[in-house]
Amino acid sequence: MKRIAILTPGGDAPGENAAIWSATKTALEQGLFPVGVLWGFRGLVEQDFIENPNLLQHLAWLKINSGGTVLRTARYRRFREDPSVRQTALDNLQSRNLHHLVIIGGNGSLSGAVTLAKEAEQREQPLHIVFIPATIDNDLGQTDYSIGFDSAVNVALEAIEKVRDHAESSGRMLIVQVMGAQHGQIALEVGLSARADAILIPENAFFQEVIKEYEGQPWEEFLWQISRPLIARANRFRQMRNGREAGVRAGSILVVAEAVAEKIEGGLKALAQQMEQNALLYWALLKGGENPDHLSYREAVARSRQMELSSSLSIIPKDLKNSVQNLYCSFPALPPPVIAEYLLDPLLEVRTVVLGYIQRGGSPTAFTRDLALRMGASAVEALSRSPEKLTSVRMTALQKGEVKILEVKHLEDFIQKGVDQSRYYLASLLAKTHRLEGPFSSWEGD
Ligand code: F6P
Repeated sequence: MKRIAILTPGGDAPGENAAIWSATKTALEQGLFPVGVLWGFRGLVEQDFIENPNLLQHLAWLKINSGGTVLRTARYRRFREDPSVRQTALDNLQSRNLHHLVIIGGNGSLSGAVTLAKEAEQREQPLHIVFIPATIDNDLGQTDYSIGFDSAVNVALEAIEKVRDHAESSGRMLIVQVMGAQHGQIALEVGLSARADAILIPENAFFQEVIKEYEGQPWEEFLWQISRPLIARANRFRQMRNGREAGVRAGSILVVAEAVAEKIEGGLKALAQQMEQNALLYWALLKGGENPDHLSYREAVARSRQMELSSSLSIIPKDLKNSVQNLYCSFPALPPPVIAEYLLDPLLEVRTVVLGYIQRGGSPTAFTRDLALRMGASAVEALSRSPEKLTSVRMTALQKGEVKILEVKHLEDFIQKGVDQSRYYLASLLAKTHRLEGPFSSWEGD
């Protein structure tokens, strides 16, 4: 009887249990023998197998409602780095008569699968793998969606809507970091759905444009450009905060991909600081009679240097001395009393939230489950008809609503994917303020 091993290496993603269940049931239906492998690639090496299909299908069925994987997972670097470890895995597969694998995971797991198949071929050992893309990052190529992405986006969406309640009540800017160690798929999708005021992703085409134009200080310029309209909004809110204009939109939400936050020296905190400094610069310019709305960052700094800024505040409160000192280092043109005055009543306060691992957990959405169940079944059906070669690696992929089986010919085509830039531009357009004269013209909630 053909035996099929199922494993879930790499970062877990909601929906993996549904894929395991569907693969197990499909195998049983087709008269194949499903074997569970615990702890991903580590289980192949250390021989952690569940050779009991009843147990396997029951375990997976029980946990379809939850995130995580009943087969467990482990980051197992030795598998990637030590060829002798992979040889042990191949020995174990051979001795257990396992030549068909369903591997459920992200791009690291796919690379591992391709390496394993190559090495099996070298030793003339049959090995057929169907890979199922399951990663909340949705960064595998050739498939529109991977298992878990939709669930993670919905978890992040719910969290951001909660954060927005606070942002709107206080007029603060909330910077929310979402997962995506290398890509901005989650940030883009959730940012658009959550009506974020700005989205920072590594694939940001706008950022690339800004870099081209403003050599020397691209990052500051970019942040200035995205924060300026939000600071202008905070300023309008401040002018109206006596309660006369309760309908005015106040706070703002910035969604940042982990990949961007990791690249900024000082991380999210530094980003928040830069935003607060931009607000100070903006406020100082307004105070000096300048309109900062059309100035580049470089121009804004230069103008602030030329301004005659005075302030009635001559004594700086003790507890503000350090902060004033720090800010004065960034903007030596702004007199310390002006900085102190700003700190006593800031135009914009920025706070940060890192959503982290909550995005990987929770009950998978209907979309995730549907995709997982379809891919699990397709993978096993494909394995029941192995190609006429010694080894093969194929992947299930969702393309235009259909689950397809693709041969993994060139790994590079499968382990990376670009973002949909039109979504980014739509999010930027929707974040703009459009106010015309007429009823509700002073409202800004749209
Ligand atoms: O699941 C993918 C991912 O969520 C990345 O976006 C994230 O940086 C990474 O996993 C972290 O996972 P771990 O801590 O398990 O390495």
